Amino acid sequence: MSQSNNAKIFIDTQRAISDISPLLFSGFAEHMGRCIYEGIYDPASPHADEAGLRTDVMDALRDLNFRAMRYPGGNFLSGYNWEDGVGPVDQRPARRDLAWQSIESNEFGTNEFMAFCKKISVDPMMAVNMGTGTIQSAANLVEYCNAPVGTKYANLRAEHGFEDPYNVKYWCIGNEMDGPWQIGHLEAEDYGKKAREAAKMMKWHDRDIKLVLAGSSNINMPTFPEWDRTVLEIAWDNVDFHSMHYYAMNTEDDTPSFLAMAAEFESFVDTLSAVLRYVKARNRSKHDVYLSWDEWNVWYKARLTKDVEGEWTKAPHLIEEVYNLEDALVIAQWMNVFLRKSDVLKMAALAQVVNVIAPILTTTEGLLKQSIYYPFQLFSNMASGKALDVVVRSPMYETKQFGDMPVLDVSASYNEETGNNAIFIVNRSQTDSITIDVNWQDASPSQVVSAHQLSGTDPKAANSFENPNVVVATPISAPDLADGKSTLVVPPLSFTALEVRV
Ligand code: AHR
Repeated sequence: MSQSNNAKIFIDTQRAISDISPLLFSGFAEHMGRCIYEGIYDPASPHADEAGLRTDVMDALRDLNFRAMRYPGGNFLSGYNWEDGVGPVDQRPARRDLAWQSIESNEFGTNEFMAFCKKISVDPMMAVNMGTGTIQSAANLVEYCNAPVGTKYANLRAEHGFEDPYNVKYWCIGNEMDGPWQIGHLEAEDYGKKAREAAKMMKWHDRDIKLVLAGSSNINMPTFPEWDRTVLEIAWDNVDFHSMHYYAMNTEDDTPSFLAMAAEFESFVDTLSAVLRYVKARNRSKHDVYLSWDEWNVWYKARLTKDVEGEWTKAPHLIEEVYNLEDALVIAQWMNVFLRKSDVLKMAALAQVVNVIAPILTTTEGLLKQSIYYPFQLFSNMASGKALDVVVRSPMYETKQFGDMPVLDVSASYNEETGNNAIFIVNRSQTDSITIDVNWQDASPSQVVSAHQLSGTDPKAANSFENPNVVVATPISAPDLADGKSTLVVPPLSFTALEVRV
């Protein structure tokens, strides 16, 4: 690391980037591995409620304060017939799920998902199958969920015991349709046209719904960003969001670069943001489309090959990634990026929420909060109002992947109604504490509302059922505030979330 171990942060509550969309704090639950079965729904668990939903899991998810939940997939979506998952449970067929080579019992389906969303107070974000599914089956599902009784699919919902429409607002049109691994994968033009036609029918059923077009599966796709340009040009006026997916990896065990991943995340958003601006101009449109980062997480330790997927069992242990300290610091930076890019990024869903690359792991009796649980919880509960354009003067350090990078990665929010200003700081150094002079330029904070920190000495340290509190966020003593200034010392490998009243 060069220069001194001192840094400065300048905050001006009037220097806003944009409103922070609460939907940035959403999650994703797929019929995959043990996310639904043995995760969310587990009648065999002593924690199950009368509907088979895990109360301990729901409590932990409630604390994460998710705003929307994307469902039912994922790659699973592209072979899923939603009609298999509704109606009397004993009449629902078991199916071979080709995406994950698993057995899908269909005990849990659309109505069980709606009940789950209601219990944890999140908005459902449904997805329609664009692989084996038709534009008709997509429209039928919108009718089933949102239409008043009186016509075929709305009546079917009522017959199944749910008279009132669910009024599901957010809908994804397919999943990762650019990927050759996807069931029913399409070329960009074919997907663009199918998505546009599905969107028309879906919106004719309910003009209030908001639709998400499937963007590139990741930045390494050979078709990125051409896929995005093509599908957006075709479907621009019919959709409201464009999706992005990305899973961060540290396969080279290069922690300095891994801890600078925010550079990659920002560049992904910047590229797609440029594509959005280009297509809007090219299409001579007055309509706006925003980004939905609806799959994001660290995922590389528990990768699959087609030979070792579910082996045709129900709820196999698939991709149960164990998260460590450095992963938690990457998650915190990702959320810093959400705030810094909040002008174009309006939705994001952590993939996934239980057991499958998730902040929560379960056994029949127990529940473990992994390291990544904590930064998500702090952001989701503290970031509100507007994202601020923070000026940061930080020491720099060298990375193989991104060249010189600032040691500190910072974002902030300001809520005019509550007067709360939250500041989120990652110290990427593995060795050095940084002393930060925080300067409020237009205001003088009167009180520290809360101060939390997650840190450690070993980037690979992780929680386990035996040792659940190795990487957790804990309250720290409130720093002194005087004359619009404060001094904060952040330890190496740390994430600090400070909230003051301005
Ligand atoms: O989240 C796991 C899988 O990753 C999803 O099913 C798919 O959309 C992505 O490739």
